[in-house]
Amino acid sequence: MNLKDYIASIPNYPQEGVIFRDISPLMGDGAAYQEATNQIVKYAKERGAEMVVGPEARGFIIGCPVAYELGIGFAPARKKGKLPRETIEVDYGLEYGKATLTLHKDAIKPGQKVIICDDLLATGGTIAATIELVEQLGGEVVGCAFLVELNELNGREKIKGYDILALMDF
Ligand code: PRP
Ligand code: HPA
Repeated sequence: MNLKDYIASIPNYPQEGVIFRDISPLMGDGAAYQEATNQIVKYAKERGAEMVVGPEARGFIIGCPVAYELGIGFAPARKKGKLPRETIEVDYGLEYGKATLTLHKDAIKPGQKVIICDDLLATGGTIAATIELVEQLGGEVVGCAFLVELNELNGREKIKGYDILALMDF
């Protein structure tokens, strides 16, 4: 199975000049979604992950089945104003916009080995902010897993030194 066959490319969305890579056809196909999840589960196991963190919203789609399969916990990193208890927060830039990401203060135990899962690595702003949140709580980021990496945006440069798995790149 070629997972790239399940990524749709939409020119000029959400703005002129951007080619949007849409993972929803992959999620919509049971076998493709399972194959992608299994590859990330294998990686997370190899890295010794004890907890999964996923940034809102598509990070939930990738991270939750991984956590379920491994029998470990999942912590949502959410946009500001969404988490009900005490949080820490980090501001970051996106390919098209700015946002603040938050994490519950008790989401990660000090020393816990964390894998961060998201659908896509673009500028790296989201993953860098998520790493910062996990590390503020004393977690150890043992890996970052994505379905898709957009090469020309050089997201990797923002997270040098961290282990990265990308199942596909464009
Ligand atoms: C998208 C995507 C990644 C991020 C990648 O999320 O799901 O999380 O952008 O871009 P970056 O590498 O430049 O940070 P978005 O913030 O659009 O939120 P959503 O998942 O709620 O749609
Ligand atoms: N596709 C999906 N999400 C994104 C993209 C993209 O091309 N760029 C930034 N977030």
